[in-house]
Amino acid sequence: MDLELVTDPLDVLVNWQEQSRAAGHALPEAMTLATVGADGHPHARTVLLKDRVGRGLTFFTNYGSQKARDLEGHPRACLLFHFARLERQVNVQGGVRKVSREESEAYFATRPRESQLSAWASTQSAPIGSRAELEARYQEVSERFQGGEVPCPPHWGGFRLEAERVELWIGRPGRLHDRVEFLWNGAGWGKRRLCP
Ligand SMILES: Cc1cc2nc3c(=O)[nH]c(=O)nc-3n(C[C@H](O)[C@H](O)[C@H](O)COP(=O)(O)O)c2cc1C
Repeated sequence: MDLELVTDPLDVLVNWQEQSRAAGHALPEAMTLATVGADGHPHARTVLLKDRVGRGLTFFTNYGSQKARDLEGHPRACLLFHFARLERQVNVQGGVRKVSREESEAYFATRPRESQLSAWASTQSAPIGSRAELEARYQEVSERFQGGEVPCPPHWGGFRLEAERVELWIGRPGRLHDRVEFLWNGAGWGKRRLCP
């Protein structure tokens, strides 16, 4: 594949995910989300890419979590995908915003009931005394919503990163890898090759 012919790097990301999925590799939608905390410290964790529209990449989480607090104070992030068995990497950076309440509710409604209940039971990133306490909270919410639909918690929803820079990386023999950086110029993607 010639990266210098690429016009939309996020189409390539989707294509590599499809290749990875078709080959039976685990979790092609998993990505590392890197944020910066109020003290300037970086934080990273894995989240799942749930949607791509244009330059927007969407993931869902708890709005009280460490990542959400980081994004509130500093609404910029980096998303990193590694397709180990394809020897490919995609690095995306840009500004991040919450998605609309309607979009979060629509996605929440598609989740398995157990995941919906967990979203109510977990104050993500906050300390909890024991596993038993977490399970007791889950039991309490499952009784609260028994027999009815589980609504989307007010503290849960999506974020969308709007890509401004994308780097595509392909492993090549002898570590002479391909790296091409794509920068959004307001109307299209400019690109330049980087040394590996
Ligand atoms: C494969 C995998 C997928 C995950 N997907 C998500 C996700 O989509 N959303 C989420 O909030 N946490 C997800 N997690 C958990 C996060 O990595 C993390 O532990 C959690 O969100 C709390 O992060 P924070 O304290 O930095 O906010 C996932 C973990 C793994 C290993």
